[in-house]
Amino acid sequence: MDDRTDIVVAGHICLDIIPALPAGAGLADMIVPGRLTAVGPAVTSTGGAVSNTGLALHRLGLPVRLMGKVGDDAIGRTILDLLARRDASLAGGMIVATGQASSYSIVLSPPGADRVFLHCPGANDTFSAHDINYAALAGVRLFHFGYPPIMRRMHADGGGSLASMFTRVRELGATTSLDMAAIDPHSSAALVDWPALLALVLPYVDLFLPSIDEMLVMLGRDGPPVTGRLLGGVAANLLAMGPAVVALKLGDQGLYLRTSSDPRRIARAGLPPSWAGRELLAPCFAVEVAGTTGAGDCTIAGLLAAVVRGMDPGPALTFATAVGACCVEAPDATSGVPTSDRVAARIAAGWPRQPVTLDLAGWEGEDESGLRTGPGDSTARR
Ligand SMILES: Nc1ncnc2c1ncn2[C@@H]1O[C@H](COP(=O)(O)OP(=O)(O)OP(=O)(O)O)[C@@H](O)[C@H]1O
Ligand SMILES: [Mg+2]
Repeated sequence: MDDRTDIVVAGHICLDIIPALPAGAGLADMIVPGRLTAVGPAVTSTGGAVSNTGLALHRLGLPVRLMGKVGDDAIGRTILDLLARRDASLAGGMIVATGQASSYSIVLSPPGADRVFLHCPGANDTFSAHDINYAALAGVRLFHFGYPPIMRRMHADGGGSLASMFTRVRELGATTSLDMAAIDPHSSAALVDWPALLALVLPYVDLFLPSIDEMLVMLGRDGPPVTGRLLGGVAANLLAMGPAVVALKLGDQGLYLRTSSDPRRIARAGLPPSWAGRELLAPCFAVEVAGTTGAGDCTIAGLLAAVVRGMDPGPALTFATAVGACCVEAPDATSGVPTSDRVAARIAAGWPRQPVTLDLAGWEGEDESGLRTGPGDSTARR
């Protein structure tokens, strides 16, 4: 293993406050001006990329530090306290902004009905490139950032702040990684020219790890069904903007990977030569789904863990989808994620995969580890 295994996860963090609501009552009966509705105790948990990917990496046994931004209010103190209770070392790199409000969501989730979120973006909206403590990133092996679409200053300027942050982090020698989030059509993110932002930012991003739905919306390609051909086109489009690796999360269809064919770009990302010119799809592992909250973030944690351990792309995708599958076995974001050894043991014991239903015409069938190889893969049989 690389002796610089230190990972920093930066970006969005919030506190979810989830009151236990009485059975039988609908939200329309509860949210009435002047009415008091008795509810049960609240569950509080941290959410967002920093919490989900960060805590999942910690559970997998990797050394990780968190760099989210909170205010100096009661909610911020609760976020820091929840993190420190997991491990005192986790919260040390958190940014505390004097006089600002922390981000929180009140989640009204009546039994058997759709959830309502009341969300305050708080300090996530003021997080900028200037908030990063670059001195603390010296010697860091990998830097992951999550959710620019729900962090106003990380998108509203067209990506300048985001690009300058990634430029500085890359200069320090870290492999850089980026995840997106869905665009809220009522927010500042809806006004952004996303293809232009991606073109500005992706040259400084080594691993670009969004979901396919987010990319189809951002690139204006939403509409046709997702097929192997569409994935190949979207990934080629994104790779042309400069990242070494594009991994697209496909929900219950698994995880798609396409990488740069330029060995120098792969080396600059700190990846072994086996990562060059690959196109692979890892189908999901078969599980009983308790909840998909955090599945994307945990899958990323699995992929980042594999990258810092120097794994080849096939086993890395397998490990990532296995961590994602462990996540969905629990209702919350990270408690289903076990140690890396436990994940590896489940894979080694012959954990079955779920069938892929999307059209993969022109792709090879499953290999012995259950992965599919696409026509854009340099090792594909011709
Ligand atoms: N039903 C499932 N069974 C097993 N694994 C799943 C299932 N759903 C998702 N996963 C795993 O989780 C990964 C991420 O899921 P998804 O594509 O929903 O991420 P996302 O869109 O980023 O979601 P979010 O940000 O809401 O967590 C998938 O690539 C897959 O490996
Ligand atoms: Mg996601």
